[in-house]
Amino acid sequence: MTTATAAAVNVPLLDLKAQYATIRSEIEPVIKEVIESQYFIGGPKIAELECQTAGYCQTKYAIGCANGSDAILLALQALGIGPGDAVVCPTFTFFATAGSVHRLGAQPVFVDVDPATYNICPESTRQAFRCHKNIKAIVPVHLFGQAADLDAMLAIGKEFGIPVVEDAAQAIGTEDPQGRRVGSRGAIGTFSYFPSKNLGGFGDGGIITTNDDALATRMMRLRNHGMEPKYYHDEVGMNSRLDALQAAVLLVKMRHLDAWSAGRQRNAAFYDSAFAAAGAADSGTPLSAGGFQLRYPKAAPKGARHIYNQYTIRVPAAIRDAVRQDLADRKIGTEIYYPVPLHLQKCFAHLHYTRGIFPHAELAALEAIALPIYPDLVPAQLEHVAASVIECVRNRMSR
Ligand SMILES: Cc1ncc(COP(=O)(O)O)c(C=O)c1O
Repeated sequence: MTTATAAAVNVPLLDLKAQYATIRSEIEPVIKEVIESQYFIGGPKIAELECQTAGYCQTKYAIGCANGSDAILLALQALGIGPGDAVVCPTFTFFATAGSVHRLGAQPVFVDVDPATYNICPESTRQAFRCHKNIKAIVPVHLFGQAADLDAMLAIGKEFGIPVVEDAAQAIGTEDPQGRRVGSRGAIGTFSYFPSKNLGGFGDGGIITTNDDALATRMMRLRNHGMEPKYYHDEVGMNSRLDALQAAVLLVKMRHLDAWSAGRQRNAAFYDSAFAAAGAADSGTPLSAGGFQLRYPKAAPKGARHIYNQYTIRVPAAIRDAVRQDLADRKIGTEIYYPVPLHLQKCFAHLHYTRGIFPHAELAALEAIALPIYPDLVPAQLEHVAASVIECVRNRMSR
């Protein structure tokens, strides 16, 4: 690509308008249908989405709710988590994972992540059990669309007699090396329909999966003020329902989900080979003094399905923000997921975590940059991003 053409290529981090253009003709009639029905809360669209999602996630039940944060909260509440309890979760994740624990009056117990996958570290999890007495659940996160090591988490859960809740907000359709979908093996799985997810609504939304009859019944009740039958409340729940307009949109989008996730995988493979050809190594190798100072995501294990909700590279902390600015100057959108690990957030200062205790998460927070990966990217955009990242990192390293 010539410099003049490159300058004309605009690559936002995510372009939902491009996606909408491909499905407008399918979406508009179903929205009209819901409007004509005036059936906005509950109803057939919700039932259909729940049924299809349970099938897609390989579970017996799927229960719609207002968002992915409530999904975690409802899951933990249904498991009886409350004041005085502690819940293990990774420190390198979106805030909601721990925020939901806190909102129930329980204490998040943070653990470090694997440096290559950014997913919860089993050894750090075991260490948490040596330091805390009241741990009542583990919430691994399938971060960026890659499956966490659930075998290890389930083994720890079994050893200590506590449930595992899978935060699969970023990972609908993700599979482990045996082809098992995330959200199907823990006691409960939780998903988000936030618009930037691989399956995103036209607003907030979430869904919860389980194979357990009693937990499903309780979560259906809890999302509706704990009400069963109408106007009778044996326990206090919340208003956390998914609405019919979202369900109608999501049902259309579900038809495309696998193709979209495959598009993300293709884009990831393009970046991987461009970065490897430029001399970068994968995230399984730490950045060191020699060689090209860029790391692309380590390949998922054979047989696993990574859906690339995010594509995260690593560059030295000293140049990370400058590289981001250079990319912004070239009209390339990026983001930092996540700049501050949760154990260092001000709102959790009362838990007395100190800097340095979770080195992998802390370093990732300083070095990570997420690149545009959405399936509608065209070759010129992919080439522009890959070439610009390589050039900007080289330029900054040579200063
Ligand atoms: C890992 C993780 N957990 C939970 C959530 C919360 O989902 P929502 O934004 O739908 O409340 C998100 C959403 O960004 C997430 O990425």
